[in-house]
Amino acid sequence: MDNRPIGVFDSGLGGLTAVKELMYQLPNESIVYFGDTGRVPYGTRSNETITKYVFQDVRFLLNFDIKLIIIACGTASSVALEAVKKEFDIPIIGVVQSAAAKAVKVSTQKNIGIIGTQGTINSGSYERKIKQIDHLAATFAKACPLFVPLVENGYLDHEVTRLIAQEYLQPLKEKHVDTIIMGCTHYPLLKRTIADIMGENVNLIDPGAETAKYVKKLLKEKDMLAEAGAKPKYKYFVSDSIESFSKLGSLFLEKKINESVEKIDIEKY
Ligand code: DGL
Repeated sequence: MDNRPIGVFDSGLGGLTAVKELMYQLPNESIVYFGDTGRVPYGTRSNETITKYVFQDVRFLLNFDIKLIIIACGTASSVALEAVKKEFDIPIIGVVQSAAAKAVKVSTQKNIGIIGTQGTINSGSYERKIKQIDHLAATFAKACPLFVPLVENGYLDHEVTRLIAQEYLQPLKEKHVDTIIMGCTHYPLLKRTIADIMGENVNLIDPGAETAKYVKKLLKEKDMLAEAGAKPKYKYFVSDSIESFSKLGSLFLEKKINESVEKIDIEKY
């Protein structure tokens, strides 16, 4: 048993989609969340900058007595996971591995689409993992940079979003992919729109949900789950406005954020 919290970070609010899954699948686990809202987006930045930010995010979370770190951000996991894993002793889990494994498992034709930020797509992280698992699997990747601002502005079920999604997803339709990895924290909020366009036979993989499942299995194996009766504590930290985090955060978390949110200076770490 291990009642220490799990540390989770993301470039901003999007990582709360993974936190939502953690809260659901691991209801006794305490969580310390850091959202780098002052420096979001990561998805359009250089690998060097993303890596520097990820090191700072990890160093900040290490101020807490945490048992594990989850990089909820698709871009940060794609670009900097290996570098931080080498540097720090604590287990650090990204979102790519579990989502790639699930995609290969459920894909009937081994014809897998990947959507994400420009940073994630440029990194080739998902293709690499998929090919490691099944070298015969075909992959087709497409960056969807407008999805993040659309979601953050609340354009979830909107005509504009539908038109843009049609444009982005058309090449994947032409390739007849049977599975799509929604490789960015924000995309699960567009699941309905993506499903409508791709058709109901296409599997949609949510990396946050798959990672939460994996973490549950890992903690169980290592006997590191929190006690069954433990009352979880949630702490939130941001690097910009607390008000907008509390307001917009509930969209991603699908519930009100009642706990206190604290602003920190991430450049100090
Ligand atoms: N959290 C990022 C991701 O999952 C999306 C937002 C950003 O570009 O920072 O890739």
